[in-house]
Amino acid sequence: MEHAAEPKEVDVPGTVIVGTQWGDEGKGRFTDYLARESDLCVRYQGGHNAGHTIVVDGETFGLQLVPSGVLYESTTPVIGNGVVVDPEVLLEELDMLTDRGIDASRLRLSGNAHLIMPYHQELDRMTERFLGKAKIGTTRRGIGPTYADKAARVGIRVQDLLDPKIFREKLELVLREKNGVLAKVYNRLPLDADELAQRYLSYVPRLEPLIDDTVHLVHTALDDGREVLFEGAQATFLDLDHGTYPFVTSSNPIAGGACTGAGVGPRALDRIIGVTKAYTTRVGSGPFPTELNDATGELLADRGHEFGTNTGRRRRTGWLDAVMLRHAVRLNTCTELALTKLDVLAPLEELKICVAYEDDTGTRYDHVPYHQSVLHKVRPVYETHPGWGCEIGEASGYDDLPAEAQSYLRRIEELAGVPIPLVSVGPARDQTVVLPRAA
Ligand code: GDP
Ligand code: IMO
Ligand code: MG
Repeated sequence: MEHAAEPKEVDVPGTVIVGTQWGDEGKGRFTDYLARESDLCVRYQGGHNAGHTIVVDGETFGLQLVPSGVLYESTTPVIGNGVVVDPEVLLEELDMLTDRGIDASRLRLSGNAHLIMPYHQELDRMTERFLGKAKIGTTRRGIGPTYADKAARVGIRVQDLLDPKIFREKLELVLREKNGVLAKVYNRLPLDADELAQRYLSYVPRLEPLIDDTVHLVHTALDDGREVLFEGAQATFLDLDHGTYPFVTSSNPIAGGACTGAGVGPRALDRIIGVTKAYTTRVGSGPFPTELNDATGELLADRGHEFGTNTGRRRRTGWLDAVMLRHAVRLNTCTELALTKLDVLAPLEELKICVAYEDDTGTRYDHVPYHQSVLHKVRPVYETHPGWGCEIGEASGYDDLPAEAQSYLRRIEELAGVPIPLVSVGPARDQTVVLPRAA
């Protein structure tokens, strides 16, 4: 029998940007850098727990929900179905962009994205409080409870806003349970369905023109051979399945998350860029084998301005962990890495890279141990590299980097097993160095 059609060849223009650590690697700055060549820039998961900073011509833009490609007029920013959206935050962000001369009306918002509701935020705060010392250290934005409702099939979606009757019905149904929990478990005041419905429906006139079938948009672009950039928020080790559970976020930031969160198959993803800092940071609780609680840790926090974009919390700091990096390369099938904040290391005489872990019994691990009790207790095994002792913020090419910086980068490439074509030496868009392939 003849086949109706030949197997479809995918002429794959899809690129994913994914964090390889615990977030804040500088994904926003590289998404912005690459968006210039892209037709669409699609956020595929997370919500306003993210904070992506972009610095252009001395102006700093802090984005939470709007994809980092928004600064280019030729790029359409898309909020995919996998994102959870607080409409008030979204509208405020759009106003901020408009005030600063950026046309944000091009934004497309998936009708299938789930809405963060006030009870999600309240429950996030309450569960954290009840966890006490065991708290996750969430951003308290309601992310976990919103994804939990999505999985429990009682979530309310962006498209529900377009039918006030359905919105109202769903809200009343879900509030019956939420108010019970808020009042009886957490001793909080119940939320009023009328007030809530009125507030959310008041956003509709501004949201409606943005709501779209984003899966169709993405596929039309891919079919036309246009470049599509998929922007991940958070990072590999905050991934719900593959991160340091339970100290993770409630979505799948890994590259595979782009498939579910934007509605594409794995074959639509061609280039996977893992963003890594030249050292490591993490906000909130959880294991961190290479953490530095000393003067070097302070120096990294100070020079790197390691304070949360949203929450202002000081990020924990530590050396680069190549064990994690290798694992991230695997989990995401990274084709390459983009390394940020190399400039921050300038004053250090010596740099360390963690190449393995060891536990109390002397057992050595070259990969991330799957059991959390082991991971909590491992000690890093370091190799030491010489520092370069001078500022590099002005470097515009590989040859401008000191030999020690070049060999630090080449060693990371070796350890990670993939090339590093892009390095940044300062927060500004133009502080980006393109590296030649290693010989
Ligand atoms: P994201 O969440 O991964 O997008 O990262 P964030 O924006 O939360 O955090 C990265 C921070 O580092 C921001 O304040 C950026 O402006 C800044 N940054 C990015 N790249 C560099 C760099 O190469 N050098 C320095 N010094 N700062 C950078
Ligand atoms: P970007 O996209 C760093 C952390 C929180 C907490 C855990 C769970 O800017 O890299 P959540 O509010 O998501 O339920 O919190 O995840 N976290 C981040 N840490 N960068 C982020 O985003 C983060 N988003 C969440 O600190 O430990
Ligand atoms: Mg951030």
